[in-house]
Amino acid sequence: MFDFDEEIDRHGDGSVKWNHFGPDILPLFIADMDFRAPQVIIEKLVEKARFGVYGYQLYDELNKLIARWLRRQYKCEADEQWIVLLHALVPGLALTTSMREGSVLIPVPSYTGILDAPVKTGRRSIWSPLKNEDEYYQPDFDDMRHKAEADTRMMMLSNPHNPVGRVYKEEELREFSRFAKERNILVISDEVHSDFIYENKHIPFFTLDDYAYNNSITLMGPGKTYNVAGLPFGFAVIPNKNIRREFKKAAYAISESGVMHAAVAEKAYDGSCDDWKRELMVYLKGNRDFLEAGLKKISSDIKFPHNEGSYLQWIDFSRLLGEENPYRWLIKKARVAMSEGAAFGESDANGRRNNHVRLNFATTRARLAEALRRIEAALNA
Ligand SMILES: Cc1ncc(COP(=O)(O)O)c(C=O)c1O
Repeated sequence: MFDFDEEIDRHGDGSVKWNHFGPDILPLFIADMDFRAPQVIIEKLVEKARFGVYGYQLYDELNKLIARWLRRQYKCEADEQWIVLLHALVPGLALTTSMREGSVLIPVPSYTGILDAPVKTGRRSIWSPLKNEDEYYQPDFDDMRHKAEADTRMMMLSNPHNPVGRVYKEEELREFSRFAKERNILVISDEVHSDFIYENKHIPFFTLDDYAYNNSITLMGPGKTYNVAGLPFGFAVIPNKNIRREFKKAAYAISESGVMHAAVAEKAYDGSCDDWKRELMVYLKGNRDFLEAGLKKISSDIKFPHNEGSYLQWIDFSRLLGEENPYRWLIKKARVAMSEGAAFGESDANGRRNNHVRLNFATTRARLAEALRRIEAALNA
């Protein structure tokens, strides 16, 4: 049994989460967890650190390990040659946008690293708001067909979806693929949260159909699952040889990770952390349910989608707070820091809004309870 209830004091650890605001603010922003990484990973890092020689690494074994993990995890075909190792996902996202001229279609809201990627490489983004029907978010394919332009050659997806917590169903993914095929679009599928599934089943984009197999780049990594984002590491799965060649060319300057990072990845994908992961998922699902019940108890005017995957909860405070910016209100009045909705390109048919915040529930249940208590007290003040 792992103790996810242990309160680790992260003040002074140099983390963004616990050191950006003052000590009186409870931080529930950014996407890292307040849990210690699995012991197997810690021991591997200590062993590597003690060894004392940190030369250039041979990564072939890691490619094999990751391909084997993909086959085991998703019962899919996966060849070690398809894997391109990366120094984290964010640079991977950015470089994909340099692979095609033209505009990039992004369903919004969406993870900031996805929104930023085309901006950094001078590509134009086209945002297509997800449809929100009674707090159930779905891709709006009519809107996408309407908005995509003749020069739209790329689409960037997040699945499980950060920030709305959807795990796309097979029919939805197939429709993405159909749409992409109609327009000859290359699909970038960011699946860094793919281990956090409470409902539905995660389907890696490249496994979907022939078009997806030949026209997509799927990005994954251990950063979220094992809380090792500070040891950046990720990989792309690219079955198509030509796209892989193009990607490797674009990735030349960033493709290699470090000794310690590779050591972590080895443990993440060789199966030795599977028990820890299983227990983590049980704890996080408990947190999700606890949070949902707590928010409902505070007020039926706090609106939120049911989270199917990830540890990020998208919450709409607009019925309670009206025009007030909920992010600022929560910091000022409740002393709880979440992520600001507008950063995710929150928008609807009427344009940009700022009704939401994103709450990270990968913390101890006691801290979640404290956050709920603070929010309730602020609303009643
Ligand atoms: C959807 C998504 N992709 C990528 C990242 C960042 O990945 P990395 O730390 O490997 O760059 C995050 C972090 O929050 C994320 O939520």
